[in-house]
Amino acid sequence: MKLSDIEFKAMNNPLRRFIQKHLEFRNFRSLGLVDKNMNILEIGCGSGYGAVLLSTLQPKSYIGIDLMPEQISLTGQWRLPGYEFKTMDASDMRDIASQSRDIIVIFGILHHITKWRKVIKECRRILISGGKLFIEEPNGKIVAYFDRLFHWGHPNADFSLEMLEKELIQNDFTIKRKRIITGFGTYYARLN
Ligand SMILES: C[S@@+](CC[C@H](N)C(=O)[O-])C[C@H]1O[C@@H](n2cnc3c(N)ncnc32)[C@H](O)[C@@H]1O
Repeated sequence: MKLSDIEFKAMNNPLRRFIQKHLEFRNFRSLGLVDKNMNILEIGCGSGYGAVLLSTLQPKSYIGIDLMPEQISLTGQWRLPGYEFKTMDASDMRDIASQSRDIIVIFGILHHITKWRKVIKECRRILISGGKLFIEEPNGKIVAYFDRLFHWGHPNADFSLEMLEKELIQNDFTIKRKRIITGFGTYYARLN
């Protein structure tokens, strides 16, 4: 789903970048996102600040995809030569080859996507065997709360952290580490 104007602004400002760097990325790192020289895919890369954070891992290659061309057009501001940013729907990433990525990173997008289960299936297809998937998501109740408060207009997606965990396991992932703090879940799952 495309972001409403209000959420677009909430995602593209210094406070959001502060949270992404000092809470979410730090959490990912402490769960094991530390490998250098990897082929990384970021799903829902937004305006590209996640790529700035991931550049500290000196990836062999980086692809960021997002549904909104308005987001992709903002990625040029970070000047990351060789990094690829593409407009693409995460539920159909056929342009990305099977078993081509070592690591996939998702900073809070599955709760935007009605077909989020298809995204997990695509992650399974795209990762190499033993590949690593890092996901940060709010649970369904927090999303509903934010919508009541800020009218961000998320889709009525049938999404919760419990459903996410079940789907990961059904798709041959092992949840190696997870952290759930005040309704926000951070996961490191490994493809078997
Ligand atoms: C909450 S924002 C997060 C953006 C960025 N990852 C961040 O943490 O600031 C969700 C992002 O997911 C993108 N998105 C929503 N549905 C999508 C889909 N079906 N495929 C790819 N990206 C999608 C939106 O355009 C938006 O940039």
